[in-house]
Amino acid sequence: MTTPRQRYRRGPLAAAFGGLAAATLAVTLAVPAAAAGSTLQAAAAESGRYFGTAIAASRLNDGTYTTIANREFNMITAENEMKMDAMQPSRGQFNWSSGDRIVNWARQNGKQVRGHALAWHSQQPGWMQNMSGSQLRTAMLDHVTQVASYYRGKIYAWDVVNEAFADGSSGARRDSNLQRTGNDWIEAAFRAARAADPGAKLCYNDYNTDNWQHAKTQAVYNMVKDFKARGVPIDCVGFQAHFNSGNPVPSNYHTTLQNFADLGVDVQITELDIEGSGSSQAQQYQGVVQACLSVARCTGITVWGVRDTDSWRASGTPLLFDGSGNKKAAYTSVLNQLNQGGTSVPNPGNPTPTPTQPGTTPTPTPTQNPGTGSCTATYSEGQKWNDRFNGTVTIRANTAISGWSSTVTVRQPQRIIATWNGSPTWDSSGNVMTMRPSGSGALAAGQTVSFGFTVQHNGDWTWPTLTCSAS
Ligand code: XIL
Repeated sequence: MTTPRQRYRRGPLAAAFGGLAAATLAVTLAVPAAAAGSTLQAAAAESGRYFGTAIAASRLNDGTYTTIANREFNMITAENEMKMDAMQPSRGQFNWSSGDRIVNWARQNGKQVRGHALAWHSQQPGWMQNMSGSQLRTAMLDHVTQVASYYRGKIYAWDVVNEAFADGSSGARRDSNLQRTGNDWIEAAFRAARAADPGAKLCYNDYNTDNWQHAKTQAVYNMVKDFKARGVPIDCVGFQAHFNSGNPVPSNYHTTLQNFADLGVDVQITELDIEGSGSSQAQQYQGVVQACLSVARCTGITVWGVRDTDSWRASGTPLLFDGSGNKKAAYTSVLNQLNQGGTSVPNPGNPTPTPTQPGTTPTPTPTQNPGTGSCTATYSEGQKWNDRFNGTVTIRANTAISGWSSTVTVRQPQRIIATWNGSPTWDSSGNVMTMRPSGSGALAAGQTVSFGFTVQHNGDWTWPTLTCSAS
């Protein structure tokens, strides 16, 4: 069997299409960034996007790892812990523990979760690998239903089906035990997932689908087009984006993402890593970010791990942080590109935008808390989308202070899904966030500092209430 690693190294894309490094993408910068974000999640949030990473449960005890992950990313994918073999090791016996560790860590830190993956030919439990025909079809659908039901309400998007198309020029489905249960296995999986968790966006996810000229890209495109035409519930397409010199970032990446988005689905970069180093790697990362930012329905980017040493392709040093947790040149180029802004995500994941009904938006009154010590917290409105809004809190020191903390309380069913320019902690309800300065909190009398956040409003547009306390 070919390991995934070999697969990407020997990928059929070859170098024929050339790298992105030399290419200049035509990008319309529709929304200039309001202010430079100092972390990936903050910079991405300015145009309404998320920036995510894959997390391995076994590394959650590593402080350097969790510090970086918590600071930089606001969308979490379990690297292996929610795959079929991990979730259902024996038939009918589900093991939620590792998946829960990651989902709980994400939620406790105010982050969203991409579920990965409900149905896939790879990383199946042994009992499933040995199945076929209608017995396998039933077992697969049962798995989709059980897992999506268990995590209902906690998942931003599910990779419902992963890697179902063949590499090369055939444009055919990949042969697998699942494919042999009948060509309609993919749509059956999507229907089961929708029934189990109607609130999650449902994605098809694959690799080697980045180049618009490629037969595999066209084949996936045609499937999505057909699904949309026939009402199969699909909301998004994930592009894994595992790149290296044999499989470089294509110069037509923006075209691919835009063409898929034009079918009426969101697109997401789901497992980004680019082997290499220095400025060449940095430039390729920049190209991927630029391509996503130029497509309004490209709702977010996830890198496949935190540090190079955490990567499944560690020897290719493909990530944004080195083994010691230092920011690489690639990190800086991604951050700078995110801060250039881009098309603003209009209604992420909502295929039929429903404008806010007149009368449903209460007129909020600015909340200002005099503070228990000598600081004041003031709320100001940021950008609004159909499903969420941004807010900024300005902390003002009334007298000279050496530190501050500010609580932001949102009302159920609201949820804070992104923050920037501060270090948040959360109470057990998830409604109260306490924000503290990332560095020194010392302020001179009259000096101000701001932090920001995104609230997923779930129909309630009420502004958060604030407190400020100084030390
Ligand atoms: C990889 C993990 O990173 C490895 O730890 C594991 O050994 C194999 O799978 N496409 C996918 C991901 O959808 O789930 C894969 O993750 C990488 C390729």
